[in-house]
Amino acid sequence: MSNSSPLRGKRIVLGVGGGIAAYKSVELMRRLMDCGAFVSPVLTKASLRFVGETTFSALGSESARTSLWDAGDPIPHTRLGQQADLVLVAPATADLIARYAAGIADELLTTTLVATNAPVVMVAAMHTEMWQHPSVVENIATLRRRGVVVIEPEIGRLAGGDIGVGRLASTGSVVEIIEEIFDGSTRALSGRKVLVTAGGTREAIDPVRYIGNRSSGKQGIAFAKAAARYGAEVTLVCTVPFESEPGINVIEVESAQEMFEAVSDAAGGFDLVVMAAAVADFRSKEISPTKIKKSHGAPQLVLEPTPDILAYLGSVKPKNQVLVGFAAETGGVEAEARRKLKDKNTDFVVANNVLEQDAGFGVDTNRVTLVFEDSALVLDLDDKRRIANRVLSFVAEWAGKNGVWSD
Ligand code: PMT
Repeated sequence: MSNSSPLRGKRIVLGVGGGIAAYKSVELMRRLMDCGAFVSPVLTKASLRFVGETTFSALGSESARTSLWDAGDPIPHTRLGQQADLVLVAPATADLIARYAAGIADELLTTTLVATNAPVVMVAAMHTEMWQHPSVVENIATLRRRGVVVIEPEIGRLAGGDIGVGRLASTGSVVEIIEEIFDGSTRALSGRKVLVTAGGTREAIDPVRYIGNRSSGKQGIAFAKAAARYGAEVTLVCTVPFESEPGINVIEVESAQEMFEAVSDAAGGFDLVVMAAAVADFRSKEISPTKIKKSHGAPQLVLEPTPDILAYLGSVKPKNQVLVGFAAETGGVEAEARRKLKDKNTDFVVANNVLEQDAGFGVDTNRVTLVFEDSALVLDLDDKRRIANRVLSFVAEWAGKNGVWSD
């Protein structure tokens, strides 16, 4: 049993929905208990078609509950919700998500969800078609707006042999997110104002075509979400669609010029700026107002440099601001990052080798080196969420130790 886990002594209601992934909740329950949590299992009627009450009763911290109408406890729904430090639903099916979003309280788990003030985490798992259905997408957006943490499903093998997005997130990553929720240190950015940029800029050539790059925005968005979880008020300047979440104010932009204007307007007021966006270095000098016709032959594009946003931020950086740049490299990664650190006057550069298959553009994982002062921190391959967590924890601690945020 872990002595240091922030889950130690916490009361968690584990709601189990009626999906094939219900069997994985047993392992999740054991892991939470190994971390020192007291876990009360609540099974929906539908879940009992997939898993047995006896298993959860035998392995949980107390007997599993399956009904609102338990003879020994006339008001289990309010008592469970009031005593809980957290309500966790795994798997959260499309049906459970819909009932919770609509405020329907028709069995013990849904009633507990409506009757609790504790943080709620829904670990979604369902078939790909259901996950992508507009009703599910809207219900999840509604729950997120209300502050519910929705852990998205992973890609993998689903019931019936299909492969796609829909598989319950791994036990390890669910436990880690719950630890973050309880861990006091994750309020490391509480009261801070953080600006993050994400995605690749698009530099128009004509109304149809643009010069772009391979950035998906995943790494930058992971930073914005991590900063919000750590208690910051976040502004995300982003080139890809992003459904706003509590604590994150989104400004959508397309080109380097638009990103420059959005960022430079407000940059001085931020405690921390993270420039994760892949900003085009060049744009077409002329933008044709109409579609360039193929029949006119190959066009001659004359390029001009875009504004270097990070270099500008470095040149006007207030003393109490931490500036984090990125470096997307294909070789000599640390040396190039160190050069950018100096040239652009940043405090940190997060360097990644974009030639690696499991790092850089588009993928869910990254392998980065955090370059600063005379030192560097090499982080192993990890998912972009954990990379963001680790970098932000390190940066917040550094800012504290160096008196950058003196208030
Ligand atoms: O979005 P993903 O698919 O998740 O991929 C993540 C990522 C690979 C895009 C990300 O990890 C990353 O490396 N982002 C920086 C990409 C980049 O533009 O690197 P660069 O080495 O060309 O630029 C160095 C720094 O200057 C960057 O912080 C960049 O935002 C900034 N810059 C660059 C050019 C410019 N005109 N203005 C800038 O501010």
